[in-house]
Amino acid sequence: MKNILSIKNLSVVYPGVRPVTALENVNLDVSAGEFVVVAGVSGSGKSTLLRAINRLTENDRARVTGSIAFEGKDVLKASRRELRELRSYIGFIFQEYNVVERLPISTNALTGTLATLGTWRSLWARFPKDRRESAHRALERVGIPLPRHSDRAGRLSGGQKQRVGIARALMQKPRLILADEPVASLDPITANLVMNIFKKINEEESITTIINLHDPVLTFKYGKRIVGLKQGRIIYDKPIAAINRETFEEDIYGTVDGD
Ligand SMILES: Nc1ncnc2c1ncn2[C@@H]1O[C@H](COP(=O)(O)OP(=O)(O)OP(=O)(O)O)[C@@H](O)[C@H]1O
Ligand SMILES: [Mg+2]
Repeated sequence: MKNILSIKNLSVVYPGVRPVTALENVNLDVSAGEFVVVAGVSGSGKSTLLRAINRLTENDRARVTGSIAFEGKDVLKASRRELRELRSYIGFIFQEYNVVERLPISTNALTGTLATLGTWRSLWARFPKDRRESAHRALERVGIPLPRHSDRAGRLSGGQKQRVGIARALMQKPRLILADEPVASLDPITANLVMNIFKKINEEESITTIINLHDPVLTFKYGKRIVGLKQGRIIYDKPIAAINRETFEEDIYGTVDGD
């Protein structure tokens, strides 16, 4: 299978009086259609890794070296215009949902098309009819029924807001989904429901998916390949079939002092 993503010797340093090396010489190849969970303790570099892939780390003026190829294109060398295009193929899902509470659910899902529409033409009726129809389909796909689509997003529960976040990403017709701790704010049952949506999308549409999780139970349950980060380095990278359930937590997270 061909690599959709190929990361070579990636290092990311955040500037400051004492600069922080968040990633150091990370190498990671991901094949099209894979479902990868990135695990590691807080501060190990999980968010930095996902954010570097579509150059969100630039917002923090981080110094990024090495190379990242997405579908063979060099992300770090891309021009502004090329970067906009690359980002349009990558659906990014955040822990904090990022829905606009005062806007209807349907409009929130539609904003996933902004990268391709160019500018903010926020109001539902001004979007082309086919876009509106695909927003309805994307929302139904993540389990939000049609009668609710005109409700304000602020009325949704956390799990439902995250579903809208996923629907919005789907509207981009992404070739890669990056999700940074998408279920960290949810109760265990809702977290599983949302993780199952990611799983289903990956299985049915073969969309390559990389998800950061801090929960070892969810990591082991959903990861088809688990990548472990520790202090900015990859210390673990195995397909689920090769993983020893007994030792994997210790292998990735280490032992707790005092145990
Ligand atoms: N904007 C920033 N400026 C400076 N340092 C940063 C910034 N963002 C992250 N860091 C540092 O980089 C390192 C990696 O952080 P990162 O957020 O990638 O870890 P993480 O694994 O996602 O952690 P968590 O599980 O808490 O989300 C940490 O030491 C962190 O303090
Ligand atoms: Mg993080």
